[in-house]
Amino acid sequence: MFHLNSNSSFRSSDAADEKSRRFFNRVAFAFPLIERALLPGYRQALAATRLDTALTVLDLGTGTGILAAAFAERGHVVKGLDFAQRLLQRAVRRHPTVAFELFNLADLDSLPTNSWDVVSMGYLLHGLDRDFRQAVLREAARIANSHVLIFDYGEPGNALVRFIEWIEGPHYPEFLRDSRAIDFARAGLTLRHHRPMRGSGAMWLCVPDS
Ligand SMILES: C[S@@+](CC[C@H](N)C(=O)[O-])C[C@H]1O[C@@H](n2cnc3c(N)ncnc32)[C@H](O)[C@@H]1O
Repeated sequence: MFHLNSNSSFRSSDAADEKSRRFFNRVAFAFPLIERALLPGYRQALAATRLDTALTVLDLGTGTGILAAAFAERGHVVKGLDFAQRLLQRAVRRHPTVAFELFNLADLDSLPTNSWDVVSMGYLLHGLDRDFRQAVLREAARIANSHVLIFDYGEPGNALVRFIEWIEGPHYPEFLRDSRAIDFARAGLTLRHHRPMRGSGAMWLCVPDS
């Protein structure tokens, strides 16, 4: 079972946060399709990256837990965080070897420095506004002991992707316009490996600057 973390101060006063959380709960029914589209790419990319399976992994914006599960299949100890309860319910049901926690990423500063080896995030960043995106990356760099692993859009998608992202919210065009090199430098991350993925996706493997 997952539980509401005791530190969590769900910012119900923050209308944008609440709107986004409600959106993801409402579209939970569509996640089986998203899983089918993304999971094979996650598996392939992790196999190619060959991170030591002794490394612990914290997966931010885990959704239904497919990136977390792809790590767990390889032998990593993994925890997934998300604020959308319906997605986490599916994650818990389908991936019993992974720990999940209902958690608002606005509270990442409550997690200790260097407390996980790897901090990962799959298709989280493009949905956040610029300031929050940079805050999440900065916090990921602080929490991660060895790597920050990011999957997201690396280039503009086709008409279907653009339509889906238009429904999700307003931040996708800004995410594509902004430079990942600048995002990473501001967060204190150095890019070690970049991998284009099927469709318009990409993977970035970064290390925190010491
Ligand atoms: C596009 S989904 C990706 C889900 C999953 N990582 C995957 O690859 O299938 C983005 C996820 O980020 C989560 N998310 C967005 N903002 C969040 C926040 N402030 N706190 C916690 N989770 C958040 C959403 O609930 C959603 O599950």
